[in-house]
Amino acid sequence: MIEISNVTKTYNGTTKAVDSLNLDIRNGEIFGFLGPNGAGKTTTIKMITGITELDQGEIKLNGISIVKDPLKAKKQFGFVPDSPDMFLRLKGIEYLNFMGDMYEVPKDLRKERIEVLSKRFDMSDALNDKIQTYSHGMRQKIVIMGAIMHDPSIWILDEPLTGLDPKSAHILKEMMREHADNGNTVFFSTHVLEVAEKLCDRVAIINKGKILFCGTLEEIKEHMKENSSLENMFLEMTENE
Ligand SMILES: Nc1ncnc2c1ncn2[C@@H]1O[C@H](COP(=O)(O)OP(=O)(O)OP(=O)(O)O)[C@@H](O)[C@H]1O
Ligand SMILES: [Mg+2]
Repeated sequence: MIEISNVTKTYNGTTKAVDSLNLDIRNGEIFGFLGPNGAGKTTTIKMITGITELDQGEIKLNGISIVKDPLKAKKQFGFVPDSPDMFLRLKGIEYLNFMGDMYEVPKDLRKERIEVLSKRFDMSDALNDKIQTYSHGMRQKIVIMGAIMHDPSIWILDEPLTGLDPKSAHILKEMMREHADNGNTVFFSTHVLEVAEKLCDRVAIINKGKILFCGTLEEIKEHMKENSSLENMFLEMTENE
């Protein structure tokens, strides 16, 4: 569960990247955060994950405030950032063990999770290579594996499907579904409408820092008939594909 209440972020005192944003993401759902480039998706995600401070408002993860109790709040989620280019000098296995240490995953459990995840993502043979030798998609996969290794209830994924081949994308989507069906929360951003259409229980459309609409895709399509700015946004995103 993620509760975002009246959150605002301004960069350099001028750019209002996120403007009085309210969102409740429930347990058991895959929630898509949709919007064009520069809409404020990553900024919102950086505030949810405690990377960027909020100017105003409150964000709670499973009821724990990221502002007041950041360390405890951070234990609630696994986070996949929009760029997987990090820890390049580590081998895949070293990175996974590092994440296991950070989140205090017991050794035997860790071994089992690494095995299951690398099999599922077809990464077993790459674990002993340095991440800098990985392709973009392989880097994406190792970051996802590291992020969910401690089995957090909330998954927060910023454009997780970018750069994944169809098979890997399929596996990730399957895992997102399973995770939500087990009563957990999956929150991810995308600017690809088609992905959201097939995967999400609910979506929010953000543009220029403001939520234009939040609901199921059917509801959005219904609502579009009376709201031309929503319709324009929708068309723009369709064209992007
Ligand atoms: N560190 C920063 N300093 C100043 N302005 C920023 C910074 N990060 C983002 N912005 C601005 O905030 C706005 C929202 O950017 P953000 O990265 O949140 O968009 P986004 O929806 O994630 O876009 P994309 O689809 O391209 O990833 C943009 O106008 C951007 O220029
Ligand atoms: Mg972004």
